[in-house]
Amino acid sequence: MFKTLQSFQRSFFQTSARSAALFAGFMSQDSRMVKDLPRRMYKPAYDSWPYSPADFKRMDESTDDQFYTSPRFVNHIDDYAIAALKNYYEQTLPHRGRILDLCSSWVSHFSPELDVAVSKKELQVTGIGMNRRELEANQSLTDFIVRDLNTVDKPCQGLKSGYDAVTCVVSIDYMTKPLELLRAVHEVTAPGGRIHLAISNRCFPTKAVGRWLKLDEDQRLNMIGDYLWFSGWKDPEIVTLKDVGGWTDPLWIVTAVKAKDTGKSEL
Ligand SMILES: C[S@@+](CC[C@H](N)C(=O)[O-])C[C@H]1O[C@@H](n2cnc3c(N)ncnc32)[C@H](O)[C@@H]1O
Repeated sequence: MFKTLQSFQRSFFQTSARSAALFAGFMSQDSRMVKDLPRRMYKPAYDSWPYSPADFKRMDESTDDQFYTSPRFVNHIDDYAIAALKNYYEQTLPHRGRILDLCSSWVSHFSPELDVAVSKKELQVTGIGMNRRELEANQSLTDFIVRDLNTVDKPCQGLKSGYDAVTCVVSIDYMTKPLELLRAVHEVTAPGGRIHLAISNRCFPTKAVGRWLKLDEDQRLNMIGDYLWFSGWKDPEIVTLKDVGGWTDPLWIVTAVKAKDTGKSEL
């Protein structure tokens, strides 16, 4: 009964969300939307990695290739969250250079302007994900790798260093070795490059790491702040694109930067 009500609410909402494209247009034109968004810097209150292997156990411990065998040509966040993300990306992602999209699928939620930059070959976007058919369908990608980031020892093997930005949408909660992954990604990112991890509060519960399911939204954001902090990224910050409340999906970005090389050597 509850499920039926939920699906009614969702389809009702999604219909009205489509007709609310005007709202999305308004968002994408207002550059103050990003600047004025609520944000807080994140610094852990502890000195060392606070998680244990038990935190990364999942209900479904089978390898991810089984779960992602069939393509899912669906959106994992609602139209309002997508509009907010496109607007954020338009204002924060470089329009030239190279972007790495982790846990990529058939959509990357890039703004139309970013997709134009891709089509003009001014922007190169590499996707890593689990399903070949989804990745082949993704118009924002210039190339992709089908790779299980939870099983490989070297998640960034074969990638050319120097990415200007890294994105990952509603998927970091599926990563069972986040420290190793984010360290490796840090290594292939250019100094000054920024990582953007988009977080909502929906997930495939059997595939999310166990600790994720025990935390509330704020605690999850702090946990992702920890991931970035302890993997070497600088100045983690949590940006609220859409807060909880109402029928629409919330959306936050946990972002951090790779320190710029000052060119000075330590004595
Ligand atoms: C909830 S979907 C989000 C997809 C996409 N980022 C989006 O916003 O539509 C989760 C994605 O994570 C990817 N994924 C899950 N486990 C993965 C793994 N072990 N290695 C690589 N990608 C994974 C899947 O391929 C899937 O596309």
